Amino acid sequence: MEVVTRREEVRARVAAARRAGQRVGFVPTMGAFHEGHLELMRRARQECGFVVVSLFVNPTQFSPGEDLARYPHDFAGDCAAAAGVGVDLLFAPAAEEVYPPDFQTYVEVEGLSRGLCSDRRPGHFRGVATVVAKLLNLVQPDRAYFGEKDFQQLRVVQQLVRDLDMPVEIVPLPTVREPDGLAMSSRNRYLSPAERRAATALYRGLLAARARRAQGARDPAELAQAVLAALASEPLVRPDYVEVRDAATLAPVEWIEKPVVVAVAAYVGQARLIDNIVLE
Ligand code: PAJ
Repeated sequence: MEVVTRREEVRARVAAARRAGQRVGFVPTMGAFHEGHLELMRRARQECGFVVVSLFVNPTQFSPGEDLARYPHDFAGDCAAAAGVGVDLLFAPAAEEVYPPDFQTYVEVEGLSRGLCSDRRPGHFRGVATVVAKLLNLVQPDRAYFGEKDFQQLRVVQQLVRDLDMPVEIVPLPTVREPDGLAMSSRNRYLSPAERRAATALYRGLLAARARRAQGARDPAELAQAVLAALASEPLVRPDYVEVRDAATLAPVEWIEKPVVVAVAAYVGQARLIDNIVLE
């Protein structure tokens, strides 16, 4: 695996792969790799001749007071893990390489960026859409891989690519979980052992909502209530939101007739955790 920090280097390596007739796969990340990240890379490895991973903790998607400065990092460990799953090129730029001093263009996906995580994180999806647009333009992959764990982000990226006619296929992958159900996240590293145990309430709540739906419930409030009850059983968990939305449009639903996503965000100690489940 080669590690590069400059945009020209990425362009040159990808151009060489293309000349060799290889399909290019791309996995954007912020590092501190876990099995969720590695699954995206493995899938890219299976499907593409040349696999590029970016590792960039994107400052524009963090709100003031969030964890930008203390976001977990483990560059040596990440390099070893990415190499271990067969990544060809790791792009790890400095902030000035991505955002030079005269940078002034931002991308905003309007409707999908409203509600859910954007209420607590204003400007978050503008930062995500901007950096993803930049990275996709730089790498110009055939396929880019994203996790369903960040469901609103996935929808924002799919809309971005469609609206701006970017010639890339967005490949979504299911959420990878710990054996007890907790969705893997770089932010799980913030949890104390007691918080780590309490954090399983998010997935337990989602399973309870799924069970209600399977029993025939069609009232979104009933599903949300099931999630909130699970969160309430853990004093270390402070709910941020529980929402039932149309899985395709993320619009609020009054009565369940189409697939919905049940999305939850909660604070556990220092960490803000999110999770979701799609109910067909
Ligand atoms: P990051 O949180 O590092 O996640 C990188 C990718 O891994 C995203 O597509 C995310 O959805 C996926 N992922 C994270 N946890 C996962 C899990 N448990 N199972 C499956 N996939 C998982 O998301 C970002 O970085 C950034 O916002 C980024 C897209 C890189 C833009 O800065």
